[in-house]
Amino acid sequence: MPLPTLEHLVQPDRVHRSVYTDPALLELEMEHVFEKIWVYCGHESQVPNTGDYHTVQIGRQPMVMVRGKDRAIHVLYNRCPHRGVQLCGNASGNTGNGFVCSYHAWSFHLDGRVRAIPLKQAYDGTRLHTDDPDCSMKPAARVASYRGFVFASLAAEGPSLPEFLGEARVAFDDMCDRSPQGEVEAVRVCHRVMQHSNWKFFMENQLDALHPSVTHQSTGVPARRVEQRVKAEQGKAPLFFHYLSAFASSFDQWDKVQTVNFSHGHGILKAYMGLRPTDPDTLEYEALMKQAYGEQKAEEFLSRSIHHVLVYPYLSVQSPLQQLRCLRPVAPDKTLSEIWHFRLKGVPEAIYRRSLWYFNLVNSPATMINADDLENWTKGQRGLESRGGEWVSFHRHFGTDTEHDGVLYSSKGTSEVVMRNQFRAWSEYMAPALQAFDPAAVPATAAAGA
Ligand code: FES
Ligand SMILES: [Fe+2]
Repeated sequence: MPLPTLEHLVQPDRVHRSVYTDPALLELEMEHVFEKIWVYCGHESQVPNTGDYHTVQIGRQPMVMVRGKDRAIHVLYNRCPHRGVQLCGNASGNTGNGFVCSYHAWSFHLDGRVRAIPLKQAYDGTRLHTDDPDCSMKPAARVASYRGFVFASLAAEGPSLPEFLGEARVAFDDMCDRSPQGEVEAVRVCHRVMQHSNWKFFMENQLDALHPSVTHQSTGVPARRVEQRVKAEQGKAPLFFHYLSAFASSFDQWDKVQTVNFSHGHGILKAYMGLRPTDPDTLEYEALMKQAYGEQKAEEFLSRSIHHVLVYPYLSVQSPLQQLRCLRPVAPDKTLSEIWHFRLKGVPEAIYRRSLWYFNLVNSPATMINADDLENWTKGQRGLESRGGEWVSFHRHFGTDTEHDGVLYSSKGTSEVVMRNQFRAWSEYMAPALQAFDPAAVPATAAAGA
């Protein structure tokens, strides 16, 4: 069936449910969004030695990020040019001085160039030549890194990585600036969760300050009770209670935080994370920061007001706690999420531990915080697959946002400007794919009420 036009899918204050459910739209998103933009592949520290590799999905394409002999990082299609077999079957590892195909032993240098074809004389007189790029592993069109975070784009044209990231690059600055050495290293295991919902649910949820007081009440309120009891009994409570009790904040408190919504759909939820207790480890850490950067700069880095930074349409970075969540959409109702965390270089072990607590207490699929979100998104997907209604509402505080130089500032923390801004970006990416469709072919369901 032909697709509806963009204006029948996305309107300023609402979107049609099919943007979450239609397999044809997901295919177009793959082609026009995920296989064009800069996609995060991993951190340089995941491939420290020659031959270290890490496989990664970019849109529908299986890729491999590998450290070359020249120390450069290459991102290649994980596909043998002979008959297509994937060259790396594991998620990560070391492939030695090159790749060797497990099927007929064609081999390749770490930059993807063909190294040897066994029994090569059998190709004499054919049109196969080893100097033909078709005989080598195909590289991603562009690879670039920002402060150690490696990205690749499968499109030769388009914005540079700094242009794509724009103001959202603060995610990586904030993470690295919190190390006295200005660097982080990846903890080389992640949680992987298959979400039974469209990728947009996750992206919208990350800056949705309206939901925590409801969705996370069952965790936040008891955590606050226990935190208060521990404080009364012992004078203070460990920081990890705060990670959970913060979810019990009232609607008024959430309304006082602000979302800042950039071009390309990126955005920030500002809120100071309260990560500066006065225990000896924190004091030692802050002293190291002042030694490295001087009083003023260290204070600037330590007091940045950031809760989350979104790199639309697939990254959520909680930079003050060195957490990064990355989406790999699989189907309209299936999204793989990877949950990574990082170590600040040159800081006491206790500072790493508090990042690990957050990783396990809030972002792990085993915690009630993440589990409650996952349940909402699954139920949301099922609701949108039904014929119980055609539209998804983003009317909250519509018309009250302020805009300066293309940046949208929320009037209230719970404004749905976040979603409106994300769909502004989605429309820009998808317009070339959708405008070719005939408006007369709009299905009655999508056109209803338009
Ligand atoms: S498919 Fe790789 S060598 Fe034949
Ligand atoms: Fe949540």
